[in-house]
Amino acid sequence: VVALPYPVEIATGALDLLPDLVRQATPAHRIAVLTDSEVAPRHAARVLASLRLDKDALFEIPSGEVHKTRETWSALTDRLLAAGYGRDTTVVALGGGVVGDLAGFVAATFMRGVPVVQVPTTLMAMVDSSIGGKTGVDTPAGKNLVGAFHQPLAVVMDPTVLRTLPEEHLRAGFAEILKHGVVADARYFADAGGFAERGALSPLSHTGLEQLCRLIERSVEIKAAIVARDEREAGLRKVLNFGHTIGHAIEAASRYRVLHGQAVAVGLVLEARLAERLGVAAAGIATTIEHACRAAGLPTELPDVRADAVIEFTRLDKKARNGRAEYALPVRIGEMAGAERGWTVVVDDDTLRAVLGA
Ligand SMILES: NC(=O)c1ccc[n+]([C@@H]2O[C@H](COP(=O)([O-])OP(=O)(O)OC[C@H]3O[C@@H](n4cnc5c(N)ncnc54)[C@H](O)[C@@H]3O)[C@@H](O)[C@H]2O)c1
Ligand SMILES: [Zn+2]
Repeated sequence: VVALPYPVEIATGALDLLPDLVRQATPAHRIAVLTDSEVAPRHAARVLASLRLDKDALFEIPSGEVHKTRETWSALTDRLLAAGYGRDTTVVALGGGVVGDLAGFVAATFMRGVPVVQVPTTLMAMVDSSIGGKTGVDTPAGKNLVGAFHQPLAVVMDPTVLRTLPEEHLRAGFAEILKHGVVADARYFADAGGFAERGALSPLSHTGLEQLCRLIERSVEIKAAIVARDEREAGLRKVLNFGHTIGHAIEAASRYRVLHGQAVAVGLVLEARLAERLGVAAAGIATTIEHACRAAGLPTELPDVRADAVIEFTRLDKKARNGRAEYALPVRIGEMAGAERGWTVVVDDDTLRAVLGA
């Protein structure tokens, strides 16, 4: 993919490229494959075989966001140390965003930093979390509050692994595809919406998977182009937070019962409504986004959480300044507002309350 300083392979059979990518970049390295308990039985054997590793090189954590913690980080680090891994370690992160963020953070800190190869196995991880180098863990005070920037050595995606992904997670990942369309590419948004409307997400047919592969490629391109221009989120990268200020607040208010992608879908719709009310975007954009989310089987309304709790959590948002959350808002599908003001828009409480129905 252009604009990224590391290779991103997206193809059926891409896992076969792992040995070359890893060993060319870091010859003589000792490889540790980090994965979770859902991915291990389905895809670890293939990856170990491709890298000619035995089971000793596989390190498994329990699946789920609740395990994306400092405790799991230290347990993994200790296991690597006990197994004699040293400075010449390369970490392979095989899994969804949880494994990617956690294994990436292990790699960022192990011996002050060793290379990581991301092998995303969820749609969310393919179109979003494996690209851009953000790694980290959650704490009781909130999500992703401790972490590091650690760009991968390479990213290897074989979309066929998505065949084993539970449908609700496939749909959740689709929210980020729609986000990328709104943020940067109206035609891509329309293509993605069309794909969802044809019911191509379930079941994922052979042609469906091929088309999804194209959508993944374009999403990676969009994110890569943005990250390349603003790796540390000084400005432009903030546009990728569209849907996420309200989305994160919904996740927190639901105590993480609502999946990230589901919360983001609601966030996309509600933040588009904010944009309409503030006159940032023309009327109609929220309905367009709502239709696309619905077609993808994603929620579009506040789930069973209190609007007040959501408002409260937006104030605690990492990106909040002086207790006021920042919003990345669209002007129209394919274009974001605020180029001249750091890509964020201030939203007053009354407008937020109105949109949340509080
Ligand atoms: N670093 C970033 O820039 C970034 C961006 C977006 C999201 N994230 C993070 O990503 C995480 C969410 O990622 P996610 O949605 O991939 O969640 P996840 O990693 O928890 O994966 C979802 C579920 O699917 C299972 N799974 C994964 N691959 C599978 C497969 N191929 N077949 C069957 N089951 C499979 C997992 O075990 C898990 O139960 C969050 O922690 C979020 O903060 C990070
Ligand atoms: Zn997201």
